[in-house]
Amino acid sequence: MLGRPFEDDFISFLKKERYFLNEFVSDDRGLVGFKVSRKEEGTNEKLEDILYNEELIAMLLKTGKQFAEKQAGVSIKDAVITIPSWFTHQQRRMMVDASELAGLSALQLIHENTAVATMYGIDRLDTDAAHTVLFYNMGGVDTEVSIVRYSTITDPATNKTYEHIDIIAEAFEKNLGGYDLDIILVNMLAEQFNTLKERQGQPDIRSYPRTLKRLFKEVVKIKDILSSNKFMQVKLSELQDYVSLFTTIQRKEFENAAQSFFDRVLDPIDKALVQAGLSIEQVDQVEIVGGGVRVPKV
Ligand SMILES: Nc1ncnc2c1ncn2[C@@H]1O[C@H](COP(=O)(O)OP(=O)(O)OP(=O)(O)O)[C@@H](O)[C@H]1O
Ligand SMILES: [Mg+2]
Repeated sequence: MLGRPFEDDFISFLKKERYFLNEFVSDDRGLVGFKVSRKEEGTNEKLEDILYNEELIAMLLKTGKQFAEKQAGVSIKDAVITIPSWFTHQQRRMMVDASELAGLSALQLIHENTAVATMYGIDRLDTDAAHTVLFYNMGGVDTEVSIVRYSTITDPATNKTYEHIDIIAEAFEKNLGGYDLDIILVNMLAEQFNTLKERQGQPDIRSYPRTLKRLFKEVVKIKDILSSNKFMQVKLSELQDYVSLFTTIQRKEFENAAQSFFDRVLDPIDKALVQAGLSIEQVDQVEIVGGGVRVPKV
């Protein structure tokens, strides 16, 4: 949402197709902002504020900064911040602004997979032989693939050898991540609930924001359980109008419902290979990263 104009089809897409429940508003720049209410200190007066997107991100960065400071026992002023490779120039600028608001000086923004590839390289480079690694990173909302060439370069003047990391391809797929699976599970549960005898002639369960919120909370658990178990019993007491949903979800049933999702899982790999001009046989190793890859079928 960062830097998106408020008058954009994207917001109605998020609300309709992705069930985003937040209240979006236009900030004074015409960009997507967030409406928040708070109580005026000392009084009971309720005030409404519009937060800039950068302010929201600054809150996240500040929390991250506090975690890191607590862990390291030192105060932190500088940061290297990872971003998706598909961020626009404007989004990158706004990320730097957000870090300033959080009291951090952004030394550099680097792509998430580049950070992963660097860590991997530092850990792993005990060989001089050049090799190619494909990083597959499925997160909550997107999947990014990078193909990275590791080699060593020897400086003829000093005869010193240096590790060299070359990102030879970067591809991504938006709306291919854990959240898509959450939506599929929410729809599965909603349809089961809607077809209950007691719900005949009643509105779709998905039209109640609070209930939808509860469903989304539940499906994250279900998804995790189904990653290590073949089925899960779901008990949602008094889900809506004192009607409960008791059901069992099989992993297989979930996988069938998500078939169109799984059909897209290899797309960013194909794109990255084309970009790199390589065939999969020319890749020496594949490393999988991110929470999304815990789903067995992925
Ligand atoms: N055991 C699990 N089984 C299934 N899904 C899981 C599991 N653990 C985490 N996830 C999912 O992984 C996703 C989060 O992955 P990750 O932490 O890599 O995302 P992120 O880096 O925060 O997001 P993004 O890269 O999209 O900005 C969530 O959708 C979460 O539900
Ligand atoms: Mg990620």
